[in-house]
Amino acid sequence: MSSAEPLLSLRAITKRFGSFAALSDVSLDIRAGEIHCILGENGAGKSTLCNLIFGVHRPDSGAMRYRAAAFQPSGPADSLAQGIAMVHQHFSLVPDMTVVDNVLLGRERGVLKRKDCATQLKRLADEYGLPLDPYARIEDLSVGERQRVEIVKCLIRDPSLFVLDEPTAVLLPDEISALLDVCRRVAASGRAMVQACRDQENRGLRHRVARWTGRGDVCNTRVRYRPSGAGHDPGQHRYTGQIRRLDSGA
Ligand SMILES: Nc1ncnc2c1ncn2[C@@H]1O[C@H](COP(=O)(O)OP(=O)(O)OP(=O)(O)O)[C@@H](O)[C@H]1O
Ligand SMILES: [Mg+2]
Repeated sequence: MSSAEPLLSLRAITKRFGSFAALSDVSLDIRAGEIHCILGENGAGKSTLCNLIFGVHRPDSGAMRYRAAAFQPSGPADSLAQGIAMVHQHFSLVPDMTVVDNVLLGRERGVLKRKDCATQLKRLADEYGLPLDPYARIEDLSVGERQRVEIVKCLIRDPSLFVLDEPTAVLLPDEISALLDVCRRVAASGRAMVQACRDQENRGLRHRVARWTGRGDVCNTRVRYRPSGAGHDPGQHRYTGQIRRLDSGA
C-alpha cells in the first residue's frame, strides 16, 4: 500500500433500510495514524456508517477500499480477521460471565488459553491505563468498566482500524480522559481510530484530540440532515444522512 493511499476509503456509499436512505452518497478517507470523528445528531447515520465499516451492513451502492484492495466484508468476523475491531454503541457482553470468558467468546478454541488470555488482558489494560480484573463478572461492573472490557477485547486483536460508536456518551469525565488517552495511543502507534460522536459531546473532544495529535491528524466528518426528498412523505419527518468532509487539521 502506498503511503499516500488511505487505510480505508468509502466512495459514494448509500445504505437503505427499505425505502429509507440512512446514508446517501457518502465518501470519506481514513488514514493510518488518524483519529477520525464522525459527527452528527441522533439518527443522522453514524452507527450505520460504523456498521458498514465493520461488516454488519452491506452498502446498497458505492465501494469501499481497505489496505489498497476492494473491501466487501461478508460480516463482522471477516472484518475482524482483516484487522478491523469495533466497540458498538450498545455493548454485547454476557453479564453473568467473567471478563476473560467474554473476551474468549467467539475465538477459536485452543488459540488463546484462558490463563494466557487473562495475563494478556491485564498487561494490555495496564499498558493503556484501563484497570481491569480479568476474573470479575460483567454484571458487577459499572458502565465505564464494561466499556473498558469492550476496548481491551478489541485491543487484544491488535487491530489496524478501531471503530468506536459513541463511546463518550456513557462515561464520567475521568473516564473520558482515559478513553481519549487510548485514542491517542492507538493513533500514535500508526493505527487508525474512527469515533462516532454527537455534536454536543464532540466540542471538547475535538479540542483535546487536536492538542495531542497536532495538525493533519484529526479529521472530522459531519453527518448532516437533509430532507429525504422525492418519494417520501414529508409528514413522516424522515431524513437522509448526508455525510461530508468537514475539515482536517487541528
Ligand atoms: N436496521 C434498521 N432498520 C430500519 N431503519 C434503521 C435501521 N438502522 C438504522 N435505521 C434508521 O437509519 C437512520 C440512521 O440511524 P443510525 O442508528 O445510524 O443513526 P445514529 O447517527 O447512530 O443515531 P444515534 O445518535 O441515535 O445513535 C435512523 O433514521 C434510523 O431509524
Ligand atoms: Mg448511533
